[in-house]
Amino acid sequence: MHVNGMTVRRFATPAAAAGALASRVAGCVQANPQLVLGLPTGRTPVRFYAELVSQFRQGRVDFSRATTFNLDEFVGLAPDHPGSYRTFMHQHFFGHVNLDRRHIHFLNGAAANLDAECARYERRIARAGGLDLLLLGLGANGHVGFNEPGRSLVASTHITRLTATTRTANAALFGHQLADVPHEALSMGMATILHARRIVLLATGSAKARAVRRLVLGPITPEVPASFLQLHRAVEVWVDDAAGGALSEHGA
Ligand code: GLP
Repeated sequence: MHVNGMTVRRFATPAAAAGALASRVAGCVQANPQLVLGLPTGRTPVRFYAELVSQFRQGRVDFSRATTFNLDEFVGLAPDHPGSYRTFMHQHFFGHVNLDRRHIHFLNGAAANLDAECARYERRIARAGGLDLLLLGLGANGHVGFNEPGRSLVASTHITRLTATTRTANAALFGHQLADVPHEALSMGMATILHARRIVLLATGSAKARAVRRLVLGPITPEVPASFLQLHRAVEVWVDDAAGGALSEHGA
């Protein structure tokens, strides 16, 4: 279905969505072996990465010429810290496929000069020719990447302060020790995100239903950063029945 310029695709289960997304990404890499991908972390994409690794193992996709940029990273963690998003990506994806290490790009949350690090990342994305396909998750509070709800949003890659709910949502990466979750992160900004040629946002589970509804049907507001995706020409919102539940109740 098409709503507010966005294509909404609904799947019966998270597994069905993850499998379809892996097939989509594999197809895009087959069509353009030099694809530049933007990648998310979080619990939602774990099954998708497992499916993509499985497709790689079956010889259906070759990542050797592809490039990746991750969306965000915590501030103050060494790249090999067990709670870092880089570690997450290594565990779930990079460690199992044939991406060239030189083509994997990450924000370094331990950089001495974080503003310079953000500027470097923007330049690096531009030098790669921009993001061809950006995959996104969705925070229950409507955030994308680490663009948190607020009175304003930042366009380019920047340092951001995490809300209490986002820190709690990420505590599992830190052995459920909330005190160990960093208070700050680096994130692609809304313009970095909206400059991607194509975007697929994946949201599953009833905890995301309200945010999905606000993203798809609500007004464009910095209180729901994901609502800015309505401005993009090529956005797909992929949901399971639980996350999409609040859409059908309202006839969308
Ligand atoms: C995290 C990440 C986001 C992610 C979101 C949802 O804080 N910064 O990029 O999409 O929150 O995470 P989950 O999939 O675990 O619900």
